[in-house]
Amino acid sequence: MDLPAPSMAPRRFLSPLLLLLLVSLASASPSQPLIRLYSKPPFAGDRKVLRDDGLYCESWRLAVETNNAGSWAQVPPRCEQLIAAYMSSDRYASDSAIVANYSSEFARAVEIAGDGSDAWVFDIDETLLSNLPYYEAHGFGSEVFDENSFDGWVDLAEAPALPSSLSLYKELQQLGFTIFLLTGRSEPQRNVTEKNLLYAGYSDWKRLILRNATDQGNPATVYKSEKRSELESQGYTIHGSSGDQWSDLLGFAIAKRSFKLPNPMYYIS
Ligand SMILES: *[C@@H]1O[C@H](CO)[C@@H](O)[C@H](O)[C@H]1NC(C)=O
Ligand SMILES: *[C@@H]1O[C@H](CO)[C@@H](O)[C@H](O)[C@H]1NC(C)=O
Ligand SMILES: *[C@@H]1O[C@H](CO)[C@@H](O)[C@H](O)[C@H]1NC(C)=O
Repeated sequence: MDLPAPSMAPRRFLSPLLLLLLVSLASASPSQPLIRLYSKPPFAGDRKVLRDDGLYCESWRLAVETNNAGSWAQVPPRCEQLIAAYMSSDRYASDSAIVANYSSEFARAVEIAGDGSDAWVFDIDETLLSNLPYYEAHGFGSEVFDENSFDGWVDLAEAPALPSSLSLYKELQQLGFTIFLLTGRSEPQRNVTEKNLLYAGYSDWKRLILRNATDQGNPATVYKSEKRSELESQGYTIHGSSGDQWSDLLGFAIAKRSFKLPNPMYYIS
């Protein structure tokens, strides 16, 4: 696939940016920004439309990450190229790494009781594991979600780790946190999920919590809140929670600090 270059790779873009700066300076009017983010059209077409799409899709992505967009079903067709570029870029890796860095900063300041009661809850998909190889073959969230097809990918147990999440996971273990994995995957997927986690480098979690038959009808926010609540009633203190969906983090029995990883490819309520 011929993907557009990442929009924020400073070195690669230095000379086109300088050129643009000079052009903009020459034709500057007060209403125009001096530097445009999208100096290079990602594909052939009307330049103004491309610029408008780039601007719109960056705003759309921010609205999605902040949950201002609320529930949404698919990446808008005009944004597919930008989301593909973002997910394949250093920017996605960096956006994820900075979340892990803030998580680690917070975790290092927690006073660990030493009795195993200090807990951290991780979501799995797009948090510990990356399904990017699957989404790359399925339009980066622009296609309608196909559960059977996705479950086929899950069964392969080949999803790689998100590198910054793997480092955070290991650091939290060293600090003495008890790790719980709370996923929207279902109980019949337990074995392949364990296999995949081990393959990706994760180990020694305390408990892997999946949706059982009773949980199936619940929205993710309710299901995950109930399970966190059970952990609390078992005496655990949930200091941190990491997830790529707001439904991983909101509801009740929420962690002292919640950390939202980027995911502009799908939304789970
Ligand atoms: C995260 O922390 C590491 C180690 O301190 C640092 O090298 C890296 O630049 C940081 N990344 C971001 C995006 O802040
Ligand atoms: C899952 O793995 C356990 C052993 O780890 C095995 O006993 C069980 O039969 C497996 N279940 C399925 C559905 O494969
Ligand atoms: C599902 O798990 C909950 C506890 O989280 C339990 O109360 C319920 O009985 C379980 N349902 C099934 C069908 O195993």
